[in-house]
Amino acid sequence: MDGLSAALMAQLAGRIVDAEHLDAVASLCSRSLVDSPTREELQFMLFEVEPVAQVWGNPEVGVAAVAVHPAGAFLRLLVVDGEHRRRGYGKELLAWAESAARNAGAPWLHVGHEAPWYLWPGVDTTELGLLCLLDQAKYDRVDSAWNMGVDLTTFEGDATGDGEGARVAVAADRVAVEEWTAKHWAHWAPEMLRALDHGTLVVSHDDKGITAACAYGASREWFLGPVAVRPDLMGSGSGQAVLVRALQAMRDAGLDRAEIAWVGPIRPYVRVGATIDRVFSVQRKRLT
Ligand SMILES: CC(C)(COP(=O)(O)OP(=O)(O)OC[C@H]1O[C@@H](n2cnc3c(N)ncnc32)[C@H](O)[C@@H]1OP(=O)(O)O)[C@@H](O)C(=O)NCCC(=O)NCCS
Repeated sequence: MDGLSAALMAQLAGRIVDAEHLDAVASLCSRSLVDSPTREELQFMLFEVEPVAQVWGNPEVGVAAVAVHPAGAFLRLLVVDGEHRRRGYGKELLAWAESAARNAGAPWLHVGHEAPWYLWPGVDTTELGLLCLLDQAKYDRVDSAWNMGVDLTTFEGDATGDGEGARVAVAADRVAVEEWTAKHWAHWAPEMLRALDHGTLVVSHDDKGITAACAYGASREWFLGPVAVRPDLMGSGSGQAVLVRALQAMRDAGLDRAEIAWVGPIRPYVRVGATIDRVFSVQRKRLT
């Protein structure tokens, strides 16, 4: 380790960051990121959700968080305080993240497309510093993810309906939602069920059961999704009512904006007035 690196490591203090440091990490994020997760979002995403992240650094300066899945490791958070930027801390934290992933046997470190839980679906393409850091560290840009925004201050519904027939799911719906997601959309079950438990899942029904479901606030307060319809109804517009009802519920909860996160098809959201607000670069680096 050269002199500079030793000094940087001393500042970072080589610390494992745990739930005891949550307030300090939340403060670091809120003063350093344009789109800062809340304390509760950080608590869930860094210290609760499986796989639990390894978090390292010094919350006064910067921290990195890595989650290791069977399929590879994911950089869940990397942030350096604005006052401490351009001094090599970001590089040091990323190097730690890579070695933590490598030590856990992960062949790749991915930035973005971590499912089902994520704070961002990739690197916001307005975050020039992070893009430069990854460029310098020789990450490959492999995909993109788009978030679509809806201005809830002017949202009134849409031409195809006003959310009629859709309602917020309650505890008594849990078994049916569990069965429905297990049968049709197993990879979205954790988000749908967490939303249901928080009273932020909207469902619609026909005489065969659930026709569509739309979660909001599952990982971040203003994120909407996932939205899913029963496979036999795909392409029939059956997801529109739950989507509109969820947007109304977010507006009624006092939010100014909703962001439909990591969208697949875009037309259902264009129909309710959404625009492509943020584009994220999904990157990865081979570690072995
Ligand atoms: C990305 C970030 C961690 C970089 O931290 P940092 O301590 O300033 O980075 P470093 O000083 O180690 O710089 C690393 C490299 O990136 C380059 N770089 C960093 N920020 C840059 C910027 N704004 N413009 C140009 N280059 C930049 C540095 O020049 C350096 O490359 P070099 O060695 O070739 O000169 C910091 O900008 C940040 O916290 N940004 C917000 C990140 C974010 O959005 N997190 C949420 C998603 S995980």
